[in-house]
Amino acid sequence: MPQHFINTEDWSQQALEDLLATATDLKNNPFHDALKNKSVALIFLNPSMRTRTSFELGIQQLGGVAVVLQPGKDAWGIEFKPHTVMHGTAEEHIQEVAAVLSTYVDAIAVRAFPQFQDWQEDRLDQVIQSFARYASVPVINMETIVHPCQELALMMTIKNHFPEPKRKKFLLTWTYHPKPLNTAVANSALSISSKFGMDVTLLCPTQDYLLDAHYMELAKTNCDAHGASFSISHNIESAYQDADFVYAKSWGALSHYGDPEAEFQLRQQYQHFIVNSHKMGLTHQAKFSHCLPLRRNIKATDAVMDADYCVAIEEAENRLHTQKAMLLQLLAPNYTGVNS
Ligand code: CP
Repeated sequence: MPQHFINTEDWSQQALEDLLATATDLKNNPFHDALKNKSVALIFLNPSMRTRTSFELGIQQLGGVAVVLQPGKDAWGIEFKPHTVMHGTAEEHIQEVAAVLSTYVDAIAVRAFPQFQDWQEDRLDQVIQSFARYASVPVINMETIVHPCQELALMMTIKNHFPEPKRKKFLLTWTYHPKPLNTAVANSALSISSKFGMDVTLLCPTQDYLLDAHYMELAKTNCDAHGASFSISHNIESAYQDADFVYAKSWGALSHYGDPEAEFQLRQQYQHFIVNSHKMGLTHQAKFSHCLPLRRNIKATDAVMDADYCVAIEEAENRLHTQKAMLLQLLAPNYTGVNS
C-alpha cells in the first residue's frame, strides 16, 4: 500500500521534524530534478489560491509535472457513494477515476471540503478516504476536514520564531466571519501545536463552537504526552494572557451544522472576537498568524495584519517549501540532492 499524506496523526513527530528540516533546506536551495518524469494530479472540488499555486510551482521546481482537474467543471463529476445507481449528475465513479489516474500519475492530491449538511457523515472524510482506497499511488490531502499541508507550514513558521516550541503558549482563537466555515484548519491547528508539545488553548464563544471530540481528545492526548496543557476558554482576556503564538480561524458551530441561518443568528453575537491590537497587547509579545484567505477588519484588524508580529505571509510562503519536502518524501525518498 502506498504511503499517503492524509493527516499528520499518521506521521510521527520525528518524521514531521525531518520534513520540516528538508523544507528549510529547500527554502535555501529550491530547484531540483528529483521529480523528473513524475507527475501529480491536483484534484480541486473547491476553490483555492495558495494551495493550487504552491503545489503547481513546487512540483515544477522539483522537475515534475502537475495536472489540475476540477471535477464537475473541467473534468467529469465524480460519484463517491459505493454500490449506488448513478442517476445523479456525476458521470463517473471514484473507483474508475482513482484507478485511471493511478495509471497516469505518481500521486493524487485532493481538496474536498465537507458538504455542510450532516457532520456525522462529513467527519468520515469519505471523499479522500475513497481516493486512498481505490488509488494505487500516494494520496495527499489539500484540505478536507483537516488541512495537514497548512499544519506543516504553520509549524515551520512557529519553529522559525520558537526553535523549541515545546511548552510555548499557543492560542487558537475563533473569529467571526459571515459564513459558517470549515473546521479543518482549526482541527489541524490543535493537532500540530499539541503534537509539538505546545501549551494549547482553544478560545471560542460558547460550547457551540467546540471542535469535534476526536480533535480535542487528540490535542489532550498529545499535550499530556509532552507534559503540556490543553485548555478550553470562553474568556477572551484570560485566554490571550501570556500567549506566545496567536492563531485565528473562523468555523461554523457544530451544534448548528446544516442550519446556516440559525448559526448566523448565533454568530452575530460574537463579532467582538476579532483579533485587534488590544488583545495582542495582552500576550507575551506573541506572533500572530492565519492560514489565509482572511477578511480584514472582520477576523483581524488592519493594525494586526500590518504589524511586524504578523507572520501570515511567511506561513503562506512555507506552504511551498513544506509541500515540496512532503512530495520528496512520498515520491523520491532516496533523493539526496537537497543539501548538495
Ligand atoms: N490556506 C489555503 O489553503 O489557502 P487556499 O484556500 O487559497 O488554497
